[in-house]
Amino acid sequence: MALLPILRFPDPRLRKVASPVARVDDSLCRLAADMAETMYEAPGIGLAATQVDVHKRVVVIDVSEGKDDLRVFVNPEIVTCDGLQSGEEGCLSVPGVYDKVERAERVTVRYLDLEGNEQQLEADGLLAICIQHEIDHLDGKVFVDHLSQLKQTRIRTRLAKQARVTA
Ligand code: NI
Repeated sequence: MALLPILRFPDPRLRKVASPVARVDDSLCRLAADMAETMYEAPGIGLAATQVDVHKRVVVIDVSEGKDDLRVFVNPEIVTCDGLQSGEEGCLSVPGVYDKVERAERVTVRYLDLEGNEQQLEADGLLAICIQHEIDHLDGKVFVDHLSQLKQTRIRTRLAKQARVTA
């Protein structure tokens, strides 16, 4: 397994729309394992392939306390959603920035598992937020896109300053 470098907002590669996975094979399983290792090491609760500059529709999530409930979603698609919730979100690609985003309270997601079998999952709360956040990444969206223009400008300025300090 290997740790993968995570793209930082506003890197334009975060705007690419990921392609569906045609076949779940060994190389895809390796990608998912590397993404999981990268997510745990960061540490974070979710990571989309887009964030490691791989533009395939793959997401890893673990919202458990014990970090022992890894979920891998290949070609995830939200088929139903209802309700509204607003939770504080952060993102490994937007370090140090947290803000409230309005999302659906419950979602049903259809996806392939690592055996290539079609699965369906009903999720609510934090897991539902995380699924919506990660699918946004696959569509080239970042959570700050949901915030006001003023906040987005402040975030860009702050991250540009951080990049100068650490570069
Ligand atoms: Ni994110």
